[in-house]
Amino acid sequence: MKGCLVVSMYVVEGGRTLNGEVRVQGSKNSTLPILAASLLCRGESVLLNCPRLSDVEASLTILRYIGCTARREGDTVIVDTTGVTRSDIPSALMHKMRSSIIFLGAMIARCDRVRMSFPGGCELGPRPIDLHLNALREMGVRINEEHGELDCSISDRLHGANIALTIPSVGATENIMIAAATAEGTTIISNAAREPEITDLADYLIACGAKISGAGESTVIIDGVRRLRPAVHAIIPDRIVAATLMAASAVTGSAIRFTGIIPSHLDSVIPVFRECGCDIQRTPEGLSFRSPDRLRSPRLIRTMPYPGFPTDAQAPLMSVASVADGLTVFVENMFESRYSHVSELCRLGADIRVEGRVAVVDGVRRLLSAHVRARDLRGAAALVVAALCARGKSRIDGIEYLERGYEDFEQVLSSLGADIRKV
Ligand code: UD1
Repeated sequence: MKGCLVVSMYVVEGGRTLNGEVRVQGSKNSTLPILAASLLCRGESVLLNCPRLSDVEASLTILRYIGCTARREGDTVIVDTTGVTRSDIPSALMHKMRSSIIFLGAMIARCDRVRMSFPGGCELGPRPIDLHLNALREMGVRINEEHGELDCSISDRLHGANIALTIPSVGATENIMIAAATAEGTTIISNAAREPEITDLADYLIACGAKISGAGESTVIIDGVRRLRPAVHAIIPDRIVAATLMAASAVTGSAIRFTGIIPSHLDSVIPVFRECGCDIQRTPEGLSFRSPDRLRSPRLIRTMPYPGFPTDAQAPLMSVASVADGLTVFVENMFESRYSHVSELCRLGADIRVEGRVAVVDGVRRLLSAHVRARDLRGAAALVVAALCARGKSRIDGIEYLERGYEDFEQVLSSLGADIRKV
């Protein structure tokens, strides 16, 4: 119904053991920049393993708004970027998804101009885009910032530049790579982000004819080419969804088999679960994961840029630490305000104290059910994990945050034996 806000919640009866095999969905954080990059290849790109998420739908809405066509056939998204008729993104679309800034480099490269609103702050605190803007300025983009609007244009063709990032920002690295792919000359990014999603974006662009070396390392070199052609590309599996399901398995004392994952993407996460006493083995299809009856605390978790421990896995791991034997210290180094799940975990009976970027978790034997509210994507996932092991029936509001990044999460968990319903 028009004007009617549909709000959903999860109802979880905790205490069920999980069992079985799960195939992990495609990565949200790979899909978003690749959809933006498809603008550079005039024609039909075919993206396999594309998760069905509200953030992906928001990207497809932006592509359709500017004149492209996009359709979905199961896990495959087919985007035809032959016709682009607009060079603006209205603020309503920009605000649907904070990472819509990823369209900046692609729109400039494709249309020579773009008008969009600032993505603004978000539930993780202020989310500056100075690195994106400074880099594009160095590549020849004129940027006017007025009343929360960005008006960006180039007079001729984008040109390559030597760009040294002060922080290895994932989004800035992606925006520069996309803009540089068809720029004149060579772009060198120093202190680039090294996340697997950067490598996936490079693999897609290379399949389209781009010349990129060093993706996944600190220095990325892009030799601009005149044109890109469309390509077929399979999105990598989502390492954060895998880590969340491992957390769900850990807190419920369960055994799960994972397929469709790339174990090396979890190299900083797997040792933490092993420290908790979980047994993790490679299998021909992926990984087997077996949890002990009583978890040990992982002691210290510091979030870092890849290959360090991912900030996106901090919240689900805090649910694990909440029921582990002993103290765990979390240090959140990536975002200012990423502990919104803490008060809700405490309502479920967790013992957590926060001081600035540090959270100290004293593991309890059992969590108890409660009515809690999610306030961000990964915090929502943490509350689901906690509710799975809490005694009794929990209700979790704010599931729209979860649906930005987890595809059919309640169905995935139900298929493993969890008692979870969306109402
Ligand atoms: C991406 C991921 C997000 C993940 C984050 C860190 C996507 C869609 N999202 O977000 O899930 O949590 O990486 O791994 O891929 N910064 C600046 N100025 C800038 C840009 C960033 O100061 O211009 C700061 C941010 O405030 C933050 C840090 O750099 O403190 C890292 O942010 P960044 O790597 O850019 O994160 P995103 O790309 O937004």
